[in-house]
Amino acid sequence: MILQDIIWTIALSGIAVVALVFIYILLGTGKAADEAAMSKAARTARKLQGGLFVLLLLGFAFGTWATLHKFPIPKQDGALQADQVVDVTARMWSWTMRPASVAAGKTVEFRVTSADVNHGFALYAPDGHIVIQTQAMPEFTNRILYRFDAPGVYTVQCLEYCGIGHAPMKATFNVVAAKGE
Ligand code: CUA
Repeated sequence: MILQDIIWTIALSGIAVVALVFIYILLGTGKAADEAAMSKAARTARKLQGGLFVLLLLGFAFGTWATLHKFPIPKQDGALQADQVVDVTARMWSWTMRPASVAAGKTVEFRVTSADVNHGFALYAPDGHIVIQTQAMPEFTNRILYRFDAPGVYTVQCLEYCGIGHAPMKATFNVVAAKGE
């Protein structure tokens, strides 16, 4: 099931629950009120409310952690503990990467800068999906950490409009199998 279908199913289920509760309340109207039952129901509602609040809080905390703990942009101050470093310089309209290849399975720190205007450094896997991206800015170095799981020829593409040569501003980047594997 794709993500949209899952979200759609959850939303429909939620709507169904709300509709059922609404129908239940409608069916109950017109009955004589029972004091004891009403105060018991109020206490139960308060407990449920508290429980639901805690549940939602935990849900949001977990959701935030699960979606952000692998955020690829590391702290920009201090040394990064990467196994390999690649210096990336963008200029109208080419990329310089030293070295031009890294080993798979080891962390890589890309130090990305520009010799002229702003460019967008984006790295695409051989299957065409984007794996990392950051801005290439003049007089500033953006660092980004990544570990390539699979060897292959990756493609760098500029993602920030930088003039007439923007669209073909591409380069290839080799990820080779780690030695001894
Ligand atoms: Cu460089 Cu667009």
